[in-house]
Amino acid sequence: MKIDYQEPSKDLLMRIDIHEKYGSANIDVWTNDLLKPQAGMKILDVGCGAGKLSFLFNEYTKGQAQITGGDFSEELLDKARAKNKELGAKIDFQFLDFNEKFKFENNTFDLCTSAFAIYYASDLKFTFGEAHRVLKSGGRLFVSGPLPENKQMFYDIIKEATNATIPPMPGSSRFKGDIFNTIDSIFAKTELHKFENHLTFPAVAPFIDYVRASLSEDRRLWTSMFNGKDEYEALIKKIESVAQNWLERDGKLVMTKVVGGILATK
Ligand SMILES: C[S@@+](CC[C@H](N)C(=O)[O-])C[C@H]1O[C@@H](n2cnc3c(N)ncnc32)[C@H](O)[C@@H]1O
Repeated sequence: MKIDYQEPSKDLLMRIDIHEKYGSANIDVWTNDLLKPQAGMKILDVGCGAGKLSFLFNEYTKGQAQITGGDFSEELLDKARAKNKELGAKIDFQFLDFNEKFKFENNTFDLCTSAFAIYYASDLKFTFGEAHRVLKSGGRLFVSGPLPENKQMFYDIIKEATNATIPPMPGSSRFKGDIFNTIDSIFAKTELHKFENHLTFPAVAPFIDYVRASLSEDRRLWTSMFNGKDEYEALIKKIESVAQNWLERDGKLVMTKVVGGILATK
């Protein structure tokens, strides 16, 4: 399956900001508690985007781990490099397309991570095979992504606004099935962990900001629902009106993010 997925950096950064402002739990704390990256480790962050996870590990290890962040978006890599410079950090941000052979020797890394990214791979067996190849024996792979019950309220509001059937999303629909099973077939040991985050919006406006910033992430949903800017704006108006009704009925809008973390050992 070929999934052409480009994430405009402003959408990604907007969603990260909304999670920080309106979320009840911190995914960074969950990730660090689960992985406990150590000084001296060699870490590869695949689909690193603007470097969220790479910077998290760098901070946690007080700059003592050797971290490489790889992504195929030069725009996001530039953002990551600028922050790297600003912080005086030594993370190596470089071009990496996870649909191609990784440019690293066998048995190089202690930890390979990928947050909300690698599950878009065209050939899961190939890509997770590459992650396995570049990990040392006993090294760990960590892949996070949405579970099928993720942000149900978001889809329910869109469904009510449009009367349309919501198509399955490539990330969440594959995560627990194909993705878990592929990793499990390649690695010695595989576990599934779960993280829940309730985003409480006190008004419709920040929820609509989230809806707009999800355009690229949930592309399959949107392309099935509108053609061109006018239709898109009309759709947003309908979503806004349903969200307003929900807000008046419930006093707030609560969207629960349900994230899976697959942790596997080579
Ligand atoms: C939702 S973002 C997540 C970014 C980052 N891991 C984070 O947690 O903020 C998905 C990332 O996957 C990257 N991506 C998508 N397809 C890719 C590919 N074939 N090779 C490398 N990166 C890819 C995108 O450029 C984007 O940075």
